[in-house]
Amino acid sequence: MLKGKNIILGITGGIAAYKSVTLLRGLVKAGAEVQVVITPAGREFITPVTLSALSGRPVICDFFTANTGEWHSHVDLGLWADAMVIAPATASTIGKMANGIADNMLVTTYLSAKAPVFVAPAMDLDMMAHPTTQRNIELLRSYNNHIIEPKEGELASHLVGKGRMEEPEKILEVLDKFFDQQSDLKGKRILITAGPTYERIDPVRFIGNFSTGKMGFAIADEAADRGADVTVVAGPVSIKPSNPSVKVIGVESARQMLDACNKLWPECDIAIMAAAVADYAPANPADKKIKREHQGVPTIELVKNPDIAATLGQSKREGQLLVGFALETDNETDHAIEKLTRKNLDMIVLNSLRNKGAGFGVDTNQVSVISKNEQRTDFELKSKRAVATDIIDCIAEAGK
Ligand code: CTP
Repeated sequence: MLKGKNIILGITGGIAAYKSVTLLRGLVKAGAEVQVVITPAGREFITPVTLSALSGRPVICDFFTANTGEWHSHVDLGLWADAMVIAPATASTIGKMANGIADNMLVTTYLSAKAPVFVAPAMDLDMMAHPTTQRNIELLRSYNNHIIEPKEGELASHLVGKGRMEEPEKILEVLDKFFDQQSDLKGKRILITAGPTYERIDPVRFIGNFSTGKMGFAIADEAADRGADVTVVAGPVSIKPSNPSVKVIGVESARQMLDACNKLWPECDIAIMAAAVADYAPANPADKKIKREHQGVPTIELVKNPDIAATLGQSKREGQLLVGFALETDNETDHAIEKLTRKNLDMIVLNSLRNKGAGFGVDTNQVSVISKNEQRTDFELKSKRAVATDIIDCIAEAGK
């Protein structure tokens, strides 16, 4: 899976830097293009000559090449990479990455990287166990970096404990598995609805809800990262997808969302209904602003909005997979299963507003995924991006 992949190998100043040579050899042997970026301290442990000979590229350490003045663009490097691997990652580099201390080429490249980042910590056991290091590692994890946990064993200090960098062969396996999984949705066309809908009362007022679209866009990014061709039909939101291949069609009302979905659905393999669609719309939206002074207290007559998920469910053909959401406050499981059946869904993602950290606006969510045969998987409270991975894992599994 590593063939043709562009990998930035970041090396920092730890004794485990000698293992980076084996990792570099393994990456090159697997067919990857590798650009080594080393910190000044890393250069004390391993010579750039060895690394450039093995990678076939000059090793980058400084912002400029001293004799030519050539500028090394961390931005271009960050865009070039399919993955960045920092092995070994010292406590110092982890701290800088977690806190944005961009005082060397490696950390600036990390901050510019669009691609997934893998971090293989290596340090003495007490440094590893220190709350500062643990907090920084947790911060990196919460920013969707992949932490390749260090192992227990004898350390350079001859002490025994957790802090040995994972073996290069294992790091290669992690990367290989990641790219394998990354492309498990290749060729799949996925439609995702996200965000709220706004239903006009008059030209300046609407009925809406608190949805921000975070969950739907996280799912879109995850699916696109794994090779799918993704289109999001989004209500009014202020966020954008991180993956540049995700197409976004902006709509305002439930009717407009339905029209966009109806056009896309026949050509899609999967639809994921993550939007919080307003259930009702004003029957007769005013074309001029309703004035407070002259018209007293208005009564707004409402009509039912179309159910987008149920409409797609009705026209679902063999081989298409339809996934819905259920945001509930009580009798959660019963309500979710009832929606699954009524809307002809294949899977429903249940989240309960009773769970702390779940729901609108927050960056975390806690979900259960229930399939058509009522098989249920409960997940822990996680970042929305990590929840998106779980949901897409379930969908990819069901689509096999
Ligand atoms: N949904 C939809 N169109 C609607 C209402 C809901 O596509 N008009 C989708 C949502 O995107 C979600 C699922 O249906 O995937 C369930 O949404 P939810 O609001 O929980 O269900 P409702 O059918 O509106 O039921 P209720 O509000 O009574 O809980």
